[in-house]
Parts: sequence; C-alpha cells; structure tokens
Amino acid sequence: MEVVILAAGQGKRMRSVLPKVLQPLAGRPLLAHVLASARALAARRICVVYGHGGEAVRTRLDAPDLVWVEQNPQLGTGHAVQQALPHLSDAGRTLVLYGDVPLIGASTLARLVEAAGRDRLALLTVELDEPSGYGRILRDAEGRVVRIVEEKDATGQERRVREVNTGILVAPTARLRDWLARIGNDNAQGEYYLTDIVGLAVEAGVEIATVSPETVAETLGVNSKTQLAALERVYQASIARRLMDDGVTLIDPARFDVRGELVCGRDVEIDVNCVFEGRVELGDGVVVGAHCVLCDVRIGAGSRVAPFSHLNGAVMGEACVVGPYARLRPGTALGNGVHVGNFVEIKNSRISDQSKANHLAYVGDADVGTRVNIGAGVITCNYDGVNKYRTEIGDDAFIGSDAQLVAPVRVGRGATLGAGTTLTRDAPPDQLTVSRARQQSYAGWKRPEKKN
Ligand code: UD1
Ligand code: CA
Repeated sequence: MEVVILAAGQGKRMRSVLPKVLQPLAGRPLLAHVLASARALAARRICVVYGHGGEAVRTRLDAPDLVWVEQNPQLGTGHAVQQALPHLSDAGRTLVLYGDVPLIGASTLARLVEAAGRDRLALLTVELDEPSGYGRILRDAEGRVVRIVEEKDATGQERRVREVNTGILVAPTARLRDWLARIGNDNAQGEYYLTDIVGLAVEAGVEIATVSPETVAETLGVNSKTQLAALERVYQASIARRLMDDGVTLIDPARFDVRGELVCGRDVEIDVNCVFEGRVELGDGVVVGAHCVLCDVRIGAGSRVAPFSHLNGAVMGEACVVGPYARLRPGTALGNGVHVGNFVEIKNSRISDQSKANHLAYVGDADVGTRVNIGAGVITCNYDGVNKYRTEIGDDAFIGSDAQLVAPVRVGRGATLGAGTTLTRDAPPDQLTVSRARQQSYAGWKRPEKKN
C-alpha cells in the first residue's frame, strides 16, 4: 500500500509564520503524528503533498521513506492527489490522509484498508450532530453511497444529511489514476474535488465501502489555535487514561502533559501540572510533586521529586530526594540516596551515593564522591570566561557553606573546607582547609553618630 498525505493548505487561520502542519501537538508537528500512523501500517511509500513555502516542512521532517511533491498552485484536493500519481504504482492501493488531521489512529486505518480489499473504494465517514462545513455522504434507497456533495454545492435537503466525509479514503491506484484524469472543476469553489471520484466509482460499478472511526476526534482537522488546543486535550486525556489503566496515580488527569514518551513502573504518583518531555522513565514508587518539568530523565525506584523542580537530561538512582525548586541540567547523574534541595543547580556532574547538597548551591562539571555534604551557598567556579574545568570532591568530604571551589581543583577524601573558603589549590585529605581573613573584634569601638 502507498500513502498520500495532503499538506499543501496554508493554514491562514493559524496566523503564524510556522506552516500549519508543523504546529506542535504534544510537542510534535501535526504532520509527524500523521506520519507515525502511516508508518504503523507499513506503507511501501509515503508521498507528502506540500504547498508553496512549505520547504520548512520538508527540512524539518525529511526521512528516507518519504517522497515530497510540491503542489503549486493549489487547485483542490483532487489536484493535490494528482501531483503524487507519478510516484504511485498501479498494482497497489492508495490511502489518502490529511496532514492536519493528527489523531487518526492506525487501527482505524487498518480497518479502512481491510474494508477496501483489492478493488473497493473505502471511505472513512462519521455522523455529526453539527455537520456544517463538511462534504455530505449521499446514499440511495438501498443505503449504497452514490456521491459526495460539498457543503457549498449542496441543496438544503442534502445539507440535512449528518453523515460526512472525513476526506480519508483508500482506492485501487489504477482506478484512482483513471478517475482523477476525468474530474473537472465546474463547482461552487472552482476546485478539482477528490470527492468527485465517488460518483465515477459508482458509474464504473466499483463497490464502495464505508468505515467509521473508533472516536470522532480521530477525524478532526486543525484550522485554528482553538482547534489545536482542543485536540491537544483529547490527546493528553488518552495518554492519561492509558497510564491510569496501567496503575499510575494521576492526581488530576486534566492537569498533566506528556510531550514525548513517559514510561512508569508500579505505584508511581504524579501530582498536578507536571510536564514530561522527550523520554522520561520513572521507576517503581517514584513520586513527582506538583509543577515539575521533566525532560529526558530517568529516575530510580523510590525517589521523590518535590514541587517546582526542573529536570533535564538527568539520571537519578534509587531513593533520592530532589527539590522543591531543584534544577538538574544535562549530564547530571545522581547515585542512590542523594539529596538535592531547594535552589540547587547541578550540571554535567556525577554525585555519588548518599551525598547531599540541600540549599542554594551550584555544582557544575564536578565529580562528587559518596557521603559528601555540600553546604548552603557552595559554588563550583567551573568557568574562567573561556574554558570549563572540573572539580573533584572525594568521599566523605564536608564542604562548608558559601565555599567557592575554583576549578580545576580537588578536595581529598574526608577533607573539611571551612565556611567561606575560596579554594584555589587542592585540599588534602582528612584535613581542615580554610581560606578566610582572621576574625577580629574591636573593644571600645563606637558607631558613627548623625551630624547636624
Ligand atoms: C475536504 C473534503 C470534504 C471533507 C473535508 C473534511 C474535498 C473536495 N472536500 O473539504 O468532503 O468533508 O475535507 O475536512 O475533498 N489540500 C491540499 N491541496 C489543495 C487543497 C487542499 O493539499 O489544493 C489539503 C489541505 O491542506 C487539507 C486537506 O487537503 O489538509 C483538505 O483541504 P480543505 O481545504 O480543508 O478541504 P475542505 O474544503 O474542508
Ligand atoms: Ca477542512
């Protein structure tokens, strides 16, 4: 089977410089969702019909299994499919999809393909309470489809039909080629309508099958930001339902967003307003507090992320406690039982088992051993304005509050740094290292007095 995806429409109502089919739904372009469904059917070839100025679409989504066909000017859906014909082989069947109908499901498509068999024309249709705007499916007294009439060409009587054309169909390719060569544009919009092939199929005695989708949302198109947001919620609700069916506790499934892939172990609990991006894996018993953003993160069993934390490109072992207000940046690897507290930022650093940085610290480009305590306000000065350097902290070291470790520098095992130390040379193991002006007190000193 071969697939043609119509994606040449400009999408003026999005009022955006970004082409419509690149607008994101769950963090991925609309067209990427359609491509995923097409690929799930193991299509032999996928032709994407794109419009003038659509180069950005091609640049963004190009792949070896795609054929890009420009349609310029855009003379209608029939004309759009015609542009792809040179790339289709007569022996097979063609599935037509829309680039702006993102939730179409692979299982609905599989049923449509099956209904088409080798030689039928199969249409995906739905019954709508509010059918205005859509092409209507007209049937004869026996219930056989005879034609599709577009809203703008329909009589008052025809407009009362509630069964509509979703636009998605499967046709034998040789027939499709023949029919498209014969359609005209003598209609209300002066366009070449793909829907006109239905009348030609009836004339040729080709059987027409209709299939309806599992959910109406699968067939909804996106023409505006309002419709985009509505489909986003539909999509998120389906992910939430799937996770809850697998035993995940979502405190409120309506305040939960996955923009990538979220994989959860048993007894995971996610509080409200969390966003998951890229690939996120949460081990058994992980708890994620409210208002967290996690992107490309792996969290071991029993770890907790407290509210308002932002974790990106980090790996965490078991039984860690992170946040509230923690920031883990790419290259962060926490061992087991590590504590990262409020307003602590960690980047490109390894923190080994049982170590803690509980308050207001920056740890960048560091290798921190086990059972290390990093005090409040500690900073690794990893950047000299040109180059980055590493800091090494040995097991059982104690870094006093407000210390600055000017990298490259090493703190030996069991070393203690006094509070406020600016460390510019290595601190030997098991010793106290302090760099600090001596404290003095002045007896008899008086505060200045206000002059008149
Ligand atoms: C089309 C159908 C209508 C159906 C409706 C479902 C026709 C004639 N009508 O109407 O029966 O109920 O979809 O939404 O087919 N496109 C191109 N090139 C073109 C024109 C359109 O690539 O020259 C693409 C658009 O980007 C879009 C899709 O085809 O993805 C449908 O186009 P649109 O203009 O929305 O079709 P409708 O007039 O709504
Ligand atoms: Ca439309």
